[in-house]
Amino acid sequence: MTTSAAPAETLDDLRARHRRDYDPYAAWSIQEHMDEIAERRDVLPISYSARGNGCWVLTRYDDISSVLRRNNRGFVSFPNEPDGINAMGSEIQQIPIETDGALHKQFRQLLDPYFSPKRVEALTDQLTGWANRLIDDWVEDGECDFVDGFALPFPGATVLTIMGWPAEDLHRMNHWASTLMHGVVGGTAEETAAARAVAHGELRDYWFAMIAERRASGHLDDVTSAAIEAEIDGERLTDTQLFDLFLLMMAAGLDTVQSVLCQSMVYLAAHPEKWDAMFATPESLEPAIEELLRWCAPAVPTRNVVHEEVEVAGLVLPKGERVHFPLAAANRDPAYYPDPDEVIFDRAAKPHLAFGLGTHRCVGLHLARLELKIAFTQLRRRLPSFALHPDYTPREHLGLAWGVDNVRLTFVPGARETEGSR
Ligand code: HEM
Repeated sequence: MTTSAAPAETLDDLRARHRRDYDPYAAWSIQEHMDEIAERRDVLPISYSARGNGCWVLTRYDDISSVLRRNNRGFVSFPNEPDGINAMGSEIQQIPIETDGALHKQFRQLLDPYFSPKRVEALTDQLTGWANRLIDDWVEDGECDFVDGFALPFPGATVLTIMGWPAEDLHRMNHWASTLMHGVVGGTAEETAAARAVAHGELRDYWFAMIAERRASGHLDDVTSAAIEAEIDGERLTDTQLFDLFLLMMAAGLDTVQSVLCQSMVYLAAHPEKWDAMFATPESLEPAIEELLRWCAPAVPTRNVVHEEVEVAGLVLPKGERVHFPLAAANRDPAYYPDPDEVIFDRAAKPHLAFGLGTHRCVGLHLARLELKIAFTQLRRRLPSFALHPDYTPREHLGLAWGVDNVRLTFVPGARETEGSR
């Protein structure tokens, strides 16, 4: 009698057995999306979505952290796109987020010193000044467009400050960033594509001119000069590489902080007791910010298998497969966070993954924490209580960074504190 081994499962079979399509850009609210992910976690913790270029979707904290931790073994980070849409118009692999291995290490060695806790702490007064000038622009009105009046320009001003770009260019920069990241809100796909092409071209001209000027005028102690002068693999970066690095700094620094600020303020408007609790004692704010980061978790990375086979969440995936992990899925895994959809400031400590993990862990995490601390402290001081404007409904979006737009607040008018143009 002969026995024959069962035929090995083909990739198509494996995909079919785990098939559950996933739309990272679905027009759902974040909570609807989290509900879908919670159900997916229960029935298919790793699932295959055939949408776009296809990807495997992870939902469990342990599976997501496991892939992130071994980032340089078995995976590459390029392209960081769940379904192959190059929405930002990036021309080459983005530095540093889509690079790996020794190349990535050199970029982190270039950037990390400028984002150390000590270095960012030194920006406290400048950023506090920015926060208050922005609040001054609308505090007498008793209402504000929180996105355009604070949540976008404040992280924008922070990126300008750390990069060493001229403060007077803030509004131009915010306009370009917003167009590239969000397109024309309420416009058609064609209008968005046309507006993105214009913004991309203008930003390119702006940065190419700035790079030329810096090369001529000499060194300044900031990220821009450091990047222009750096030697990576023995060579200076080209203008196009510098453009891509600057674009990434802008995108990574703006959309994420904006998202946490907007999601938090919408939540806090409905939960004023939590707004009070954040400031109950001088020690209350930092853990509250960590919990809001856990709960908001805007960033959504993707990695691609490059070894012949890699084990992911109990499956063996072959080379070429794409693994996508909404970090919010990890941060809402009930295995570590009971009542995961609730904001609970005194949770038992379990490090959240909002800033990622492993070699690509966020460069700007100390800066982001400082920004959030300054923003909430100054907003609390100037707007002790606030509500959502009854005529406006916040609009949430998914994508590569989940967020909220159309956030309009009302509050008791306050007094300006600085002189300035309105
Ligand atoms: C609340 C705010 C922020 C959140 C939640 C956040 C989240 C993240 C996450 C999850 C990653 C890793 C992505 C991956 O593994 O592929 C990342 C990377 C990065 N972030 Fe942040 N970020 C924030 C703020 C900032 C700020 C303020 C800056 C700089 C101004 C910044 C710059 C970067 C850069 C340059 C990377 C790429 C790091 C690398 O590839 O090695 N981020 N961020």
